[in-house]
Amino acid sequence: MNEVSNETRFLHAVEMGLGAWQWGDRIIWSYGQGYSDTDIREAFDSSLDLGIRFIDTAEVYGTGRSERMLGQFLKETDQPVLVATKFFPYPWRFGKGFIPRALKASLERLGTESVDLYQIHWPSPIFSPEAMMEGMAECVKQGLTRTVGVSNFGHKRMLRAYSALAQQGIPLASNQVHYSLLSREVEKNGTLARCKELGIRLIAYSPLEQGLLTGKYSPQNPPPGVRGSRYADFLKKLPPVIKTLQEIAQNHGKTVSQVALNWVICKGALPIPGAKNARQAQENAGGAGWRMTGDEVAKLDEVTDTFRPYSNSGD
Ligand SMILES: NC(=O)c1ccc[n+]([C@@H]2O[C@H](COP(=O)([O-])OP(=O)(O)OC[C@H]3O[C@@H](n4cnc5c(N)ncnc54)[C@H](OP(=O)(O)O)[C@@H]3O)[C@@H](O)[C@H]2O)c1
Repeated sequence: MNEVSNETRFLHAVEMGLGAWQWGDRIIWSYGQGYSDTDIREAFDSSLDLGIRFIDTAEVYGTGRSERMLGQFLKETDQPVLVATKFFPYPWRFGKGFIPRALKASLERLGTESVDLYQIHWPSPIFSPEAMMEGMAECVKQGLTRTVGVSNFGHKRMLRAYSALAQQGIPLASNQVHYSLLSREVEKNGTLARCKELGIRLIAYSPLEQGLLTGKYSPQNPPPGVRGSRYADFLKKLPPVIKTLQEIAQNHGKTVSQVALNWVICKGALPIPGAKNARQAQENAGGAGWRMTGDEVAKLDEVTDTFRPYSNSGD
């Protein structure tokens, strides 16, 4: 592994974070139905109490509501919190100047002067990684963010971003990608290995495969809404995976969700599970702070080897 730079070292010390997409999103997560602002507040508080201090949000989550809620929570806690947010490259945003402008709007919603990590949410066909990184470098120079990351970048684009930043003396801190037991593309296409080599933290989103890896969904009891149809094929193949997770969970006095999250940690990535309430946040926090054995990791690798991700981050 490359030497991790001093600026990004803090991210390598974070074992697990908390995803905040659920905070205000009605389309996928049905915010407001079945969970409330109070539940979200309790998920945040419980996470902090259990040592989870890295929160991942984005300007698009709940069209700004997630950042505003986080801002409110930050105002009301005296505990240290690491904040990561993201720039969305809408087609009309294709010049470097859009990036610091968008970050300033995020900071306004967050009520802070800077964030710990600013990420490009998705690559764009018209906004090159090089031009994006000029905008990100400007954010660092203006003191608006401590570090810079990308998200959904395949390893070629990631390397372009890495090199463009390196020319300005700025390390690429992270690449946030879809990574779970059921979506192992980043292992297979070399992105995870490249990240380790270059000291880039791989942040794993949807580490519970949007609830599938908690053990509560099955072909007979699919998740609600769009998740039900998106995951129809996965659900059919899920039972042996859950069975293996249960066996490993028993060995360690853990739950299925905790084992699924621990597997991500064992692979050297940083999972950021979303939680809709305190119970979920507390359970997820127990995915960190221990390690399953190498044999157990291998068993899970074997039982999930035939899963192909439903989406492809591309390159
Ligand atoms: N960069 C990107 O493009 C991108 C894309 C996706 C996500 N993300 C980030 O990654 C974070 C996590 O990913 P995700 O939210 O897609 O999926 P996830 O973390 O795999 O799954 C979260 C969902 O699983 C269920 N759940 C979580 N913990 C549980 C527990 N202990 N017991 C039972 N159910 C539990 C909840 O939904 P139900 O209760 O409704 O089942 C929850 O909303 C997001 O919040 C966001 O910050 C980033």
